[in-house]
Amino acid sequence: MSNWQELEKKYFMSTVDRLPITLVRGQGARVWDEDGRQYLDFVGGWAVNSLGHCHPVVVDAVVEQAHTLIQTSNQFYTIPQIRLAELLVQNSCLDKVFFCNSGAEANEGAVKLARRYGKRYLNGAYEVITTIGSFHGRTLAMVAASGQAKFQQPYLPLPAGFINVEYNSIEAIKAATTNQTCAVMLEPVQGEGGVNLPSDDYLTAVRAWCDQMGILVILDEIQTGLGRTGTLFAYEQYGIEPDIMTLAKGLASGIPIGAILAKDKASVFTPGEHGSTFGGNPLACAAGYATLKFIIDNDVAGNARRVGQHLTTGLEGLRQKFQFITEVRGHGLLVAMESSSDIAGSLVMACLDRGLLVNRVKPNALRFMPPLIIGNEEVDEALGILGQALSSIASSKEVQSAR
Ligand SMILES: Cc1ncc(COP(=O)(O)O)c(C=O)c1O
Repeated sequence: MSNWQELEKKYFMSTVDRLPITLVRGQGARVWDEDGRQYLDFVGGWAVNSLGHCHPVVVDAVVEQAHTLIQTSNQFYTIPQIRLAELLVQNSCLDKVFFCNSGAEANEGAVKLARRYGKRYLNGAYEVITTIGSFHGRTLAMVAASGQAKFQQPYLPLPAGFINVEYNSIEAIKAATTNQTCAVMLEPVQGEGGVNLPSDDYLTAVRAWCDQMGILVILDEIQTGLGRTGTLFAYEQYGIEPDIMTLAKGLASGIPIGAILAKDKASVFTPGEHGSTFGGNPLACAAGYATLKFIIDNDVAGNARRVGQHLTTGLEGLRQKFQFITEVRGHGLLVAMESSSDIAGSLVMACLDRGLLVNRVKPNALRFMPPLIIGNEEVDEALGILGQALSSIASSKEVQSAR
């Protein structure tokens, strides 16, 4: 058998600290490595595999579409694209859709749309206010939008036009707003920043301020959308409607896709002003339609809410047992568990050894983002493994030194 991990070192750019397993197969909430070892997957392709691995409705849709039509130029009408756009519009507060290939690309397009709106209606205003701790993607502009120094420092100078302000502070947004501002862009819950929840009135205050100033609200629901937080879109839980919303990750169960959705008033692109070769191709959109239809028809968001509650309750139980766990927070099946010291890396390895995949979202925090179709049994299994992993490191130097 090839030594894949050695070959990766030889041939691949080193952009990620990989875990030492090579995955070859997935089914439902489980994946298998090349030695046939099974893992319960609470990383879920980075919050992508909402329906689990290789869900039959997605596999069937992809196979059928692959036999029919995979790619055309966007100069032509294609049916899967229009069906997916219709389903998204019918089930959200937005009116128009543009498809691209990733989350970063969706956010880039959303910022271009807001700048276009600024040119047309706001005397050329172009600045976008974003928050510290946010994550909007890896293109240069989205690195500038993401308020995290570790992503920005290696690439300075960054494109202009992004103001990063304190998260969860309406006063910070007000102070940063000028006659050059065209939009505020936020994740309803900061995912990569550590599953940071807004206070109850933050998003309504942002919406009211943007209405007062005549500027746009862009919600990046790339991680929170499509049922992950217990409603189809997280904005529903905060009682606001965005002018522009971006989606990607779970939309097509792992076939690359991104989407910009906009209210009619903000849908200001004209032909030639934006585009994509692959964006909205029939294959990705067939996978997207099958995924979204299944999520809606089977109330997958409701399942995420109920099972997420079970997960949170179980993690709270572990917090009672292990004093070094300081906080459990999240919505639906986007949940973090924080500790008083930087043990997340050790915990990831201790869980991996025991057959559970979890994500270290911060040095002192784990994040759980399993498929949204899991049941309480899988959560109990994960909690059992996590409990063992916590016990195994409870007496370690890392934990003791934080006391
Ligand atoms: C909220 C949010 N926005 C944007 C992105 C970037 O998406 P992609 O990696 O598909 O470019 C991510 C990825 O983690 C994300 O969580």
